[in-house]
Amino acid sequence: MLNKEIVAKINKQINFELYSAYVYLDISNYYADQNLNGFANWFKIQTQEERDHAMLFMDYLLQNGEKIVLSDIKAPSFAFTDFRQPAMEAYEHEIKVTASIHDIYGAAYEIKDFRTMQFLDWFVKEQSEEEKNTDEIIKRYDLFGNDAKGLYLLDSELAARVYTPPTLVI
Ligand SMILES: [Fe+2]
Repeated sequence: MLNKEIVAKINKQINFELYSAYVYLDISNYYADQNLNGFANWFKIQTQEERDHAMLFMDYLLQNGEKIVLSDIKAPSFAFTDFRQPAMEAYEHEIKVTASIHDIYGAAYEIKDFRTMQFLDWFVKEQSEEEKNTDEIIKRYDLFGNDAKGLYLLDSELAARVYTPPTLVI
Protein backbone atom coordinates (compact mmCIF):
# COMPACT_ATOMS: atom_id res chain seq x y z
CA MET A 1 0.00 0.00 0.00
CA LEU A 2 1.14 3.48 -0.81
CA ASN A 3 0.21 6.81 0.68
CA LYS A 4 -2.94 8.31 -0.92
CA GLU A 5 -1.25 11.57 -1.84
CA ILE A 6 1.59 9.70 -3.56
CA VAL A 7 -0.91 7.57 -5.52
CA ALA A 8 -2.77 10.71 -6.63
CA LYS A 9 0.49 12.34 -7.74
CA ILE A 10 1.53 9.23 -9.66
CA ASN A 11 -1.85 9.05 -11.38
CA LYS A 12 -1.39 12.69 -12.37
CA GLN A 13 2.10 11.85 -13.62
CA ILE A 14 0.70 9.03 -15.80
CA ASN A 15 -1.50 11.61 -17.50
CA PHE A 16 1.43 14.01 -17.84
CA GLU A 17 3.63 11.34 -19.46
CA LEU A 18 0.84 10.52 -21.92
CA TYR A 19 0.42 14.22 -22.61
CA SER A 20 4.19 14.38 -23.21
CA ALA A 21 3.77 11.60 -25.78
CA TYR A 22 1.11 13.78 -27.43
CA VAL A 23 3.39 16.83 -27.37
CA TYR A 24 6.14 14.89 -29.15
CA LEU A 25 3.72 13.39 -31.62
CA ASP A 26 2.56 16.90 -32.50
CA ILE A 27 6.17 18.00 -32.93
CA SER A 28 6.98 14.91 -35.01
CA ASN A 29 3.98 15.57 -37.23
CA TYR A 30 5.06 19.19 -37.74
CA TYR A 31 8.55 18.15 -38.84
CA ALA A 32 7.17 15.40 -41.08
CA ASP A 33 4.94 17.99 -42.73
CA GLN A 34 8.04 20.14 -43.32
CA ASN A 35 9.84 17.14 -44.87
CA LEU A 36 12.39 17.07 -42.07
CA ASN A 37 11.97 13.33 -41.69
CA GLY A 38 14.97 12.89 -39.39
CA PHE A 39 13.61 15.39 -36.87
CA ALA A 40 10.22 13.70 -37.25
CA ASN A 41 11.80 10.32 -36.53
CA TRP A 42 13.61 11.59 -33.45
CA PHE A 43 10.43 13.00 -31.94
CA LYS A 44 8.34 10.00 -32.88
CA ILE A 45 10.76 7.85 -30.88
CA GLN A 46 10.46 10.36 -28.08
CA THR A 47 6.71 9.69 -28.14
CA GLN A 48 7.38 5.98 -27.64
CA GLU A 49 9.63 6.78 -24.68
CA GLU A 50 6.96 8.90 -23.03
CA ARG A 51 4.37 6.18 -23.48
CA ASP A 52 6.86 3.79 -21.83
CA HIS A 53 7.26 6.20 -18.91
CA ALA A 54 3.49 6.20 -18.41
CA MET A 55 3.53 2.38 -18.48
CA LEU A 56 6.26 2.26 -15.85
CA PHE A 57 4.26 4.50 -13.51
CA MET A 58 1.22 2.30 -14.11
CA ASP A 59 3.23 -0.85 -13.40
CA TYR A 60 4.46 0.70 -10.18
CA LEU A 61 0.90 1.35 -8.97
CA LEU A 62 -0.19 -2.17 -9.96
CA GLN A 63 2.85 -3.67 -8.27
CA ASN A 64 1.75 -1.97 -5.06
CA GLY A 65 -1.92 -2.93 -5.34
CA GLU A 66 -3.02 0.61 -6.12
CA LYS A 67 -5.69 1.72 -8.56
CA ILE A 68 -4.79 3.40 -11.84
CA VAL A 69 -7.08 6.28 -12.75
CA LEU A 70 -6.85 7.39 -16.37
CA SER A 71 -7.97 10.88 -17.28
CA ASP A 72 -8.42 12.95 -20.45
CA ILE A 73 -5.26 13.75 -22.37
CA LYS A 74 -5.15 17.39 -23.41
CA ALA A 75 -4.40 18.08 -27.07
CA PRO A 76 -1.29 20.24 -27.60
CA SER A 77 -2.08 23.67 -29.03
CA PHE A 78 1.20 24.72 -30.62
CA ALA A 79 1.41 26.94 -33.67
CA PHE A 80 4.93 26.38 -34.96
CA THR A 81 6.36 29.07 -37.17
CA ASP A 82 9.96 27.90 -37.59
CA PHE A 83 12.08 24.75 -37.28
CA ARG A 84 13.70 25.82 -34.03
CA GLN A 85 10.54 26.45 -32.02
CA PRO A 86 9.37 22.82 -31.63
CA ALA A 87 12.76 21.79 -30.24
CA MET A 88 12.58 24.72 -27.81
CA GLU A 89 9.06 23.69 -26.75
CA ALA A 90 10.37 20.16 -26.19
CA TYR A 91 13.19 21.41 -23.97
CA GLU A 92 10.85 23.62 -21.95
CA HIS A 93 8.42 20.74 -21.64
CA GLU A 94 11.13 18.50 -20.21
CA ILE A 95 11.93 21.13 -17.57
CA LYS A 96 8.27 20.91 -16.47
CA VAL A 97 8.40 17.10 -16.41
CA THR A 98 11.51 17.26 -14.23
CA ALA A 99 9.73 19.60 -11.80
CA SER A 100 6.76 17.26 -11.67
CA ILE A 101 8.93 14.23 -10.88
CA HIS A 102 10.81 16.21 -8.25
CA ASP A 103 7.47 17.14 -6.72
CA ILE A 104 6.53 13.46 -6.28
CA TYR A 105 10.01 12.75 -4.96
CA GLY A 106 9.67 15.60 -2.47
CA ALA A 107 6.35 14.26 -1.21
CA ALA A 108 7.80 10.75 -0.86
CA TYR A 109 10.81 12.15 0.97
CA GLU A 110 8.56 14.01 3.44
CA ILE A 111 6.83 10.82 4.54
CA LYS A 112 9.90 8.54 4.28
CA ASP A 113 8.39 6.54 1.41
CA PHE A 114 11.72 4.94 0.50
CA ARG A 115 10.13 2.57 -1.99
CA THR A 116 8.77 5.38 -4.14
CA MET A 117 12.00 7.34 -3.81
CA GLN A 118 13.97 4.35 -5.06
CA PHE A 119 11.54 3.85 -7.94
CA LEU A 120 11.81 7.52 -8.88
CA ASP A 121 15.61 7.52 -8.86
CA TRP A 122 15.60 6.14 -12.41
CA PHE A 123 13.31 8.98 -13.55
CA VAL A 124 15.43 11.64 -11.87
CA LYS A 125 18.41 10.38 -13.85
CA GLU A 126 16.36 9.95 -17.03
CA GLN A 127 15.24 13.58 -16.83
CA SER A 128 18.80 14.87 -16.91
CA GLU A 129 19.19 12.87 -20.15
CA GLU A 130 15.94 14.24 -21.57
CA GLU A 131 16.91 17.83 -20.83
CA LYS A 132 20.39 17.33 -22.26
CA ASN A 133 19.11 15.67 -25.44
CA THR A 134 16.56 18.34 -26.29
CA ASP A 135 18.98 21.14 -25.37
CA GLU A 136 21.55 19.54 -27.67
CA ILE A 137 19.15 19.57 -30.61
CA ILE A 138 18.60 23.33 -30.12
CA LYS A 139 22.32 24.01 -29.80
CA ARG A 140 23.18 21.92 -32.85
CA TYR A 141 20.38 23.58 -34.79
CA ASP A 142 21.79 26.99 -33.86
CA LEU A 143 25.24 25.89 -35.03
CA PHE A 144 24.30 24.15 -38.29
CA GLY A 145 20.60 24.59 -38.97
CA ASN A 146 20.64 27.95 -40.71
CA ASP A 147 22.54 26.53 -43.65
CA ALA A 148 20.67 24.16 -46.00
CA LYS A 149 23.50 21.62 -46.13
CA GLY A 150 23.93 21.77 -42.38
CA LEU A 151 20.23 21.28 -41.83
CA TYR A 152 20.26 18.32 -44.21
CA LEU A 153 23.11 16.68 -42.30
CA LEU A 154 21.49 17.35 -38.93
CA ASP A 155 18.24 15.87 -40.20
CA SER A 156 20.13 12.81 -41.48
CA GLU A 157 21.79 12.43 -38.08
CA LEU A 158 18.43 12.51 -36.27
CA ALA A 159 17.06 9.99 -38.77
CA ALA A 160 19.50 7.44 -37.36
CA ARG A 161 17.92 7.37 -33.92
CA VAL A 162 16.41 4.00 -33.08
CA TYR A 163 14.00 3.17 -30.32
CA THR A 164 15.39 1.45 -27.25
CA PRO A 165 13.01 0.42 -24.46
CA PRO A 166 13.65 1.72 -20.94
CA THR A 167 16.06 -0.17 -18.72
CA LEU A 168 13.99 0.14 -15.54
CA VAL A 169 12.45 -3.07 -14.26
CA ILE A 170 9.59 -2.69 -11.78
FE1 LIG B 1 8.80 11.13 -19.60
